[in-house]
Amino acid sequence: MDISSILQGGYAHPTSRKWQAKTQLSKSMFMYPIFITDDPKASVEIPTLPGQRRWGVDRLEEFLTPLIEKGLESVILFGVPLSCNKDDRGTPADDPTGPVILAIKKLRALFPDLYIACDVCLCEYTDHGHCGVLHADGTINTPPSVDRIAEVAVNYARAGAHCVAPSDMMDGRIKGIKRGLMDAGFGNKCLLMSYSAKFASSLYGPFRDAAGSAPSFGNRKCYQLPPTGRGLARRAIQRDANEGADIIMVKPAMPYLDIIADAAQLTPDHPIACYQVSGEFAMIHAGARAGVYDLKPMAFESVEGMVRAGATLILSYFTPDFLEWL
Ligand code: PBG
Ligand code: ZN
Repeated sequence: MDISSILQGGYAHPTSRKWQAKTQLSKSMFMYPIFITDDPKASVEIPTLPGQRRWGVDRLEEFLTPLIEKGLESVILFGVPLSCNKDDRGTPADDPTGPVILAIKKLRALFPDLYIACDVCLCEYTDHGHCGVLHADGTINTPPSVDRIAEVAVNYARAGAHCVAPSDMMDGRIKGIKRGLMDAGFGNKCLLMSYSAKFASSLYGPFRDAAGSAPSFGNRKCYQLPPTGRGLARRAIQRDANEGADIIMVKPAMPYLDIIADAAQLTPDHPIACYQVSGEFAMIHAGARAGVYDLKPMAFESVEGMVRAGATLILSYFTPDFLEWL
């Protein structure tokens, strides 16, 4: 056999296998998505997301303390308002007495070292369930959508969020939010993480159940990207970097590893995030339950692929598990 055909000596030991990674998985790479609801005492299981719950503000201490002791460094908050008055512009999104703003303040007070990101979107708060403001014919009206989304983002920054992360996919919202943050004095304090390449995916179902954010008519295909649209994703990534995004995110993650690799190549000077979304998490659990594989090695394989593709930050419902495993 030729010398160059011998590879196995290079990864025969568990330690030499670890050295094959260009980047090692670490606890700080994981950001944990959590659902905050408006009943302050709530701790309600989400049936489609094994182990995940909707939490009330008064329960956050008991929920997060053990995770922080295990090394949790960052969370991303999603509001799940159940008893608010939804309207056509998502007024409850930045209600000062709503769950997200109360949770930001509570978490800042309870856990001074915890990094708090907030998803910014209107779909949980609009009566029509779309992510922006609509024209009479039901299509997106972009300028007022951007204005309203920027206003919500600035109000989350004012409440103390370290990061705002718009997931709506409106054109121009990164520029609008960045400008809003700068004008309000948060340009040097608040990070802007763009869901730059967010695809119109089948994998958001469990999230929409959990957050009550399914559109009441139509779909999101005129603002979220078509799954075939690699070129559009590349353009959106570059646009958002130019508009002032501090982190570029790809979402979902596993079916879009090529897009993660594109982002790492197109914006090599930005952190690259990916979101292992609700349907990916549910799918990995379902496969394990069906005996297709063991949960833990499959969970590792899924995120190892993302890191290999170029991700440096992973938003994942597996975060509590990885805090145990790593
Ligand atoms: C809101 C939003 C969604 C997700 C994050 N923010 C749903 C959607 O766009 O329909 C999905 C997250 C997940 O599935 O875990 N725009
Ligand atoms: Zn939305």
